[in-house]
Amino acid sequence: MSTKHWTTLNMPTLLGKTILVTGGNSGLGFESVKAFAEKGANVILACRNLEKGENAKTKILDIDVKGSIEVLELDLMDLASVKSFANNIKSKYKQLDILLNNAGIMATPYFTTKDGFEAQLGTNHLGHFALTGLLLDLIKSTPNSRVVNVSSMAHKSGLMDFNDLMFENERVFKTFKAYGQSKLANLLFTYELQRYFEKNKINSIAVAAHPGGSNTSLASHLEKKWYFKILSPLLRGIMQSAAKGALPQIRASVDASVKGAEYYGPDGFNEVFGYPVLVESTPASHSLEDAKKLWELSEKLTGVSYN
Ligand SMILES: NC(=O)c1ccc[n+]([C@@H]2O[C@H](COP(=O)([O-])OP(=O)(O)OC[C@H]3O[C@@H](n4cnc5c(N)ncnc54)[C@H](OP(=O)(O)O)[C@@H]3O)[C@@H](O)[C@H]2O)c1
Repeated sequence: MSTKHWTTLNMPTLLGKTILVTGGNSGLGFESVKAFAEKGANVILACRNLEKGENAKTKILDIDVKGSIEVLELDLMDLASVKSFANNIKSKYKQLDILLNNAGIMATPYFTTKDGFEAQLGTNHLGHFALTGLLLDLIKSTPNSRVVNVSSMAHKSGLMDFNDLMFENERVFKTFKAYGQSKLANLLFTYELQRYFEKNKINSIAVAAHPGGSNTSLASHLEKKWYFKILSPLLRGIMQSAAKGALPQIRASVDASVKGAEYYGPDGFNEVFGYPVLVESTPASHSLEDAKKLWELSEKLTGVSYN
């Protein structure tokens, strides 16, 4: 089958595979859970609101999929929740073929997670860093496993400010600066994780993906802003469906030709829409120095060590 226009039709069977999707109740996560379950995987739908998770599961099972879905509670804004979720997974599952770190928030006002991290960095990067580290034994012991991190075009404007990672010293909080930093962190983490796997001869790969611009609930924090009310109808017209936007992360998760440290995104104009292909991330995302710094800091902040 042609991979020029890669779609869910190109997916291999996933019978016997265990796949964990964070933020699986909505948007791109929902579409990913659906696609994996349709191909026969046992999918763990991780979400912070069990009712939303169960509703998503019911919707997917209504279309008669081959696989199964288990809904489990995970709040990435709370390290205690991440730890108890990881323990729950380790007690229930003996393999984890794919960990899709998809959940995220964007353009929120300034607030902190339960552990005092700026919310976007805390959810998008630190929560997933802790989760991946806590599931490492399971990932390591599953042959050919994958960790897939969902980044964004917004990583291009991201800057790692290690002197003020949590925006504590800013007089005015710039929410898109915080989002950009968190999405750059997703890529720095992906590439460092791949180096970690290689150095330790672990039979797993780390990959990243971005969905271009996709119609989901991600911009819900902007809905009351005057500029968003004007721009929203226009943006909704340009943006692709969540199902199409999820294709890069689905491809990164299951396509047999994918290699470690690759980055998938849409092939259309400016990577805003289209079919999933290999794309480039910025030189800043490949900084060895920043990746190492972020890794060490993330271990310290979350208390999760990869050694
Ligand atoms: N849509 C786009 O155009 C776009 C572009 C670039 C990158 N992305 C990335 O794509 C990913 C998925 O976003 P989406 O567009 O599908 O948005 P979405 O529809 O808002 O979905 C985000 C998911 O993350 C979950 N989530 C948020 N905070 C969480 C927490 N503390 N713990 C656990 N789950 C949490 C949400 O749960 P609730 O339903 O409970 O809020 C929801 O399930 C994000 O990483 C985002 O940065 C999206």
